[in-house]
Amino acid sequence: MLIDGCGRQIDYLRLSVTDRCDLRCAYCMPPEFDDFEISDQWMNFNEIVRICRIFIDLGVSRVRLTGGEPLVRARIVDLVHGIGQLPGLYDLSLSTNGTRLQEFAPKLQTSGVQRLNVSLDTLSPHRFLTLTRRDALHNVLAGLEVARKSGFRLIKINMVWLPEFNGDELDAMIKYCMERNFVLRLIENMPMGDAARQLGSSSLQPLISELRERFHLVDQIVAGAGPARYLATPDQSFSVGFITPMSQHFCEACNRVRVSVTGTLHLCLGQNHRLELLPMLRGGSTDQEIALQIREAVMQKPLSHEFQTNPKKIVRIMASTGG
Ligand code: 5AD
Ligand code: SF4
Repeated sequence: MLIDGCGRQIDYLRLSVTDRCDLRCAYCMPPEFDDFEISDQWMNFNEIVRICRIFIDLGVSRVRLTGGEPLVRARIVDLVHGIGQLPGLYDLSLSTNGTRLQEFAPKLQTSGVQRLNVSLDTLSPHRFLTLTRRDALHNVLAGLEVARKSGFRLIKINMVWLPEFNGDELDAMIKYCMERNFVLRLIENMPMGDAARQLGSSSLQPLISELRERFHLVDQIVAGAGPARYLATPDQSFSVGFITPMSQHFCEACNRVRVSVTGTLHLCLGQNHRLELLPMLRGGSTDQEIALQIREAVMQKPLSHEFQTNPKKIVRIMASTGG
C-alpha cells in the first residue's frame, strides 16, 4: 500500500497525457496561451505505461487519464489499450472536454475506459463560445450522446460553478443530466494560475442546502470519492457531487497524486511539492529505484492546499498539472 505521511492511503493516480487542449476555458488558459511543454519532454507511451505499472505495484488501483485534453494526444486509443491491460488495475477513467467524443467514445470503451468525466459548464452555444473561445458545444453534446450509448459504467458532467455566468442554468443542467443518467458535479473555481484567479470563486454551500431541500436529496456514500461529496435523490436515480476546495476542503480524505505529461509527480494540486520522474525513466533507473523514490515523495504529500490562505501560490494552470 502507498501511504502518505498523514496516514492517507493513495490508491488513485491522475495522469496527464498532454498539456495541450483544443479549448481555452477562461478558468484554465488565457486565450493567447502557448506556453506548452515541448514534445521531446513528453513521456512516450512506454514510459507512461511503465509509470502506471510501478504505481499499480505500489498499491494504486485506479487510474484516470487527463490533460489538457487527453483526446488530442496522437494514438491515445493505443495508450488506453496498453494501460487497460495492466494487471491489478481495477478502474480506468478519462476526463475530457468532449469535443472529440463522437469519434472516440466507442473506441475508448472497448479499449478499457470504464468511466468518463466530461466538462460542460453551459448548455448555451453562445456562452460556450464565450467561455471556451471555441464554437464547439454541438460537438460536445453530440459526443455525449454517442458516449451514452457506448456502454460506459458511469458518465459524470463537470460544471465549474460561476454563478454570474452559468448560475441560471443549474435547473437546465440537472434536467439534462437526470434525463441521461449522468452524474452532475459542481466545482468551485480554484485559483490555479492568473486566468482562474481573475474569475474569483463562489461557495457552493448555499446551493448544497437549496438543492437538498428542493429535490429531497440525501447524503450518498460513494466509495473512493476522495474530496468530493455527493447527494442523491431518495431512489438514487440521480446524484450530484460537490467539489468544494474553497469553501470546505476535504483534504483529509485525499487519496490521489498526479503525474504530468513531462513526468512530474505532483503531490498536491495546490502545493509545489513534486518529484521529477523523467530523469529516472531516461537515466536507467530500475522499477524498484523509481518505486522507492515515489514512496519517499508520497511521504511528503502536504496535508492540504492553501487556496484560501495563499491563493497566489500556484502559478501553474490546471492543464499543466493534469485536472
Ligand atoms: N478550477 C476548478 N476546476 C478547474 N478545471 C480547470 N481549471 C479549473 C479551475 N481553475 C476543471 C474543469 C475540467 C477539469 C479538467 O478541470 O472543470 O472539468
Ligand atoms: Fe482545455 Fe480543460 Fe483547460 Fe478547458 S479546462 S482549456 S477543456 S484543459
